[in-house]
Amino acid sequence: MSRFLVLTGLVDFGQRLTLSLDAAHELQILGAATASGTASDVLGRNIGGPVDVIVVGPDIATEQWFGLANGLDAEYPDIVVVLAAPSNRDVTLAALRSGIRDIIDPESDASQLSLALERASITAKGRKHAGPDDSGQAVSRGRIIPVMSPKGGVGKTTVSTNLAVGLARSAPKGAVIVDLDLQFGDVASGLGLEPHYTINDAVSGAASSDSMVLKAFLTPHPSGAYAMCAPLRPADADLIKPVQVAALVSQLSMEFPYVILDTSPGLGDVVLAVLELATDGIWVCGMDIPSIRGLNHGLEVLRQLDLMPPSNTLVLNFADKRSGLTVKDVEATVGLSAGMVLPQSRAVPFSTNAGVPLLQSGRRDPVWKGLKALVDKISAGVVPAGTKGPRRRAAVS
Ligand SMILES: Nc1ncnc2c1ncn2[C@@H]1O[C@H](COP(=O)(O)OP(=O)(O)O)[C@@H](O)[C@H]1O
Ligand SMILES: [Mg+2]
Repeated sequence: MSRFLVLTGLVDFGQRLTLSLDAAHELQILGAATASGTASDVLGRNIGGPVDVIVVGPDIATEQWFGLANGLDAEYPDIVVVLAAPSNRDVTLAALRSGIRDIIDPESDASQLSLALERASITAKGRKHAGPDDSGQAVSRGRIIPVMSPKGGVGKTTVSTNLAVGLARSAPKGAVIVDLDLQFGDVASGLGLEPHYTINDAVSGAASSDSMVLKAFLTPHPSGAYAMCAPLRPADADLIKPVQVAALVSQLSMEFPYVILDTSPGLGDVVLAVLELATDGIWVCGMDIPSIRGLNHGLEVLRQLDLMPPSNTLVLNFADKRSGLTVKDVEATVGLSAGMVLPQSRAVPFSTNAGVPLLQSGRRDPVWKGLKALVDKISAGVVPAGTKGPRRRAAVS
């Protein structure tokens, strides 16, 4: 449950917000005049529990919301401020400077308003949970879920894109997928997206320090998920350092409950850097000896370095009883229980080629069911098979 305060004298706008708000939340409308007061004056008019989100109506003058948002940002950083105003460059810049979290079009229909309010609520919850850690730094809140394998072509992108689409259903606008296959990433193609911006834009300039700018570089997907797409040219991957990727992932985890990372084959520097942050590791493995051997060696190294994420799920892909290997053989070799077994299915390459993940298309076949169960397991917070306690953080340079 989140509590919203709305500053507006516009009856119609207030009513539309009230109707758009999920019944689990609370909303109180304060008149436009309240916006001329200080942050404390506004909160003094609150007659319910602690305030999570303040929505500033389109009838509030710029100098008023600018001063108020600055005051809230300085004195009440846990509160998320959302501005309803027709967006233009001047408004966006002023909003950025004053700490406003999101701008919504006042003419938005009920479903768009509802999504914007839900997003603000999720962010507010995250801010409250992100208390300082030992080092005085804000701690990550969202789950960081890298999808990895030593080998290529085993289904990492298939699993990660479906996770993003599936998790976006349970957390609207709450899932982001980052394509960390920096040279040959195919998340954009797997999701049928044509990105205007890529990770190159996100790790440089203002985006690296400002979450609102960072979000402008994400590409929205019709499912409600967001994608941070790989560089357009393989050579651009060289401009991105592992430490920048780690900072980006950490920053996204402050904004999104689920940060899914598609990765390149192997355990390169980028994967090692994000393993430091990972909450849930997903290991994809084919039912063939080279894949299993590769994964076994990779996991051995990570265990020695104490770099295994706190929770790990093994996804066995291309499972085929006729392969001569059983699920138990694989489990015994790599030392993880299979959290999910996905058979070979013609629907998968079809969905890859169409740029429509299985969970989006709704074509229910055994792989669809397996992927859906994996999503449900993660969103229910079930600790999957192969879990162990928190690990010492090994330094990766
Ligand atoms: N269970 C499956 N059945 C059939 N084809 C699959 C299956 N999983 C993945 N594929 C296909 O295998 C190819 C490689 O999958 P992909 O997810 O891109 O692997 P990776 O990202 O590990 O390189 C894609 O064309 C994909 O459609
Ligand atoms: Mg891939």
